[in-house]
Amino acid sequence: MKLWIKQSCHRHSTKYRYTFTMKLLIILPVLFVILNTAQLQANDEAILAGQRAEPVTGKTAMVVTSHQLATEIALEILKEGGNAIDAAIAAGFVLAVTQPRSGNIGGGGFMLYSPSYSDAVTAIDYRETAPSKAHEKMFLDDMGNGDQTLSRFSHLSAGVPGTVAGFALALEKFGTMSLAEVLQPAINLAKNGFVVPNRFVEGIAARKQVFDKWPSSKAKFFKQDGSSYQAGEIFKQPDLAKTLQLIADKGAEGFYTGETARLIESEMQKHGGLISYEDLANYQAVIRQPVHGTYRGFDVYSMSPPSSGGVHIVQILNLLEQYPITEYGHNSAQTIHLMAEAMRRAYADRASYLGDSDFIKVPLKGLISKSYSQAIVKNIKLNRATPSVEIKAGNPQHYESPETTHFSIVDQFGNAVSNTYTLNFSYGSGIVVTGAGFLLNNEMDDFSAKPGATNAYGLMGGEANKIEPNKRMLSSMSPTIVKQAGKNFLITGSPVGSRIISTTLQVIMNVIDHKMNIQTAVNSPRIHHQWWPDEIRIEQGISPDTIKLLTNRGHKMVQKSAMGGSQSILVDQENRRLYGAADPRQSTSKATGF
Ligand code: GLY
Repeated sequence: MKLWIKQSCHRHSTKYRYTFTMKLLIILPVLFVILNTAQLQANDEAILAGQRAEPVTGKTAMVVTSHQLATEIALEILKEGGNAIDAAIAAGFVLAVTQPRSGNIGGGGFMLYSPSYSDAVTAIDYRETAPSKAHEKMFLDDMGNGDQTLSRFSHLSAGVPGTVAGFALALEKFGTMSLAEVLQPAINLAKNGFVVPNRFVEGIAARKQVFDKWPSSKAKFFKQDGSSYQAGEIFKQPDLAKTLQLIADKGAEGFYTGETARLIESEMQKHGGLISYEDLANYQAVIRQPVHGTYRGFDVYSMSPPSSGGVHIVQILNLLEQYPITEYGHNSAQTIHLMAEAMRRAYADRASYLGDSDFIKVPLKGLISKSYSQAIVKNIKLNRATPSVEIKAGNPQHYESPETTHFSIVDQFGNAVSNTYTLNFSYGSGIVVTGAGFLLNNEMDDFSAKPGATNAYGLMGGEANKIEPNKRMLSSMSPTIVKQAGKNFLITGSPVGSRIISTTLQVIMNVIDHKMNIQTAVNSPRIHHQWWPDEIRIEQGISPDTIKLLTNRGHKMVQKSAMGGSQSILVDQENRRLYGAADPRQSTSKATGF
């Protein structure tokens, strides 16, 4: 700058030079302030945009899934003119082949679909159901205690699978391609095999003991000589390819009736399971109204019962909306304290009130009402933890009005899909249906074996979630779509049981309250409280000072393994830019856009 002034001035007279210099002396500080402010703003934006991690960007469409192959195939479908539903179903079937720990056709889940052309968000419920012969005491031993081997690792642990029916329904209602077309990539991968990553190898090794119990599982996941597949080797699934081909040829009927249904029934009959041919033939996926709430002017849509996810995300957001969270700061002691207090109260309500709304009356309107949350907030102390032993479920009925209700994809038309589905545990029950090549879920463990009993995630359940024939077990899955001014804004969700709700909640808060870009919002350290155990579970990355402050307020702080795997998309409608964030907690996850 100095050099430029010198060179520009040397041709002029002294008087002119003096006037010019005076002007510069006045202008420069102003210029400096303007430039500096602009620079600071630019820096701020850079910090906000760049933060600790950059999302993947696209202008037209975006796919984020937990497996590279599913992401790439879904994106290809979009590029060829398919819509978000076509891509979602293709990705779902590919995950059933490439990621058997959670991708499935033997499990179930939930999907939210938000088309660009309408305000309406549709929820598709393809949760598993209890077999018609299931009964309340089926997992109790002679002493009346829950038998966890039965509810988690036996043929009794499997609910009637919903995934194929759910995918077929979504495609029929909102897709543009046929089942055969969207299934072809998955069939090819099952038949010809794919290169296994390290995560696959580690996952199989961790569940070896369970697979070893069942010859069909051993045959699927290990080589003929009993040795393990190594990273970089090709893994083929011929039986699964046949099962998928039957669906491609005959539609959902090709799974719920005929050869596959007979194979499932025979597997059950041989090993004391309950799923019958009729249970399969009678299974129906259901279209539901999603839960709808608002948070600081944004519209939040998430999954309704039989999932608890949407209800409690909205309930916790309603509570937190009453505090200046942005001012308190991300993962500060005050913010974590309030989040934990809100979470423990919501999970207490979950244990009492949530279950399959086709069987019980869930006080949904009350639970998600702003007035109920205003009443609860009165009992939250700003500086002191409320021991969970003092928290009982609230009284949401009082707030009912008299009239009485994850991968992420955004396509080139602006339609959005948020989908979460599961086998429950990694690899579900660990039982592969002999001859059909797919794993059965162990979702029956999500019912309460008896009032007050906890499931595998330590979640307490009550009467509302007791086992009944054909009932759907309570879930925490929370596929979520947040809208801004009526337009799709944030598409998110997560795996991992009870932590799904808190993970999804924190991605929403990180974006709305803490103004993080979507990748930083996904990467940031998470916290979790679920009423019981009475502890704040934290990931690595919460500062020791903060932990100390919270301990002094009466919280028990426990650092455990990472939580969730939130594959999320943020849409900047104004600039028509898409930001995709794959969760680094799952090493195979991938975001791609164009
Ligand atoms: N199986 C875990 C859930 O649905 O919440």
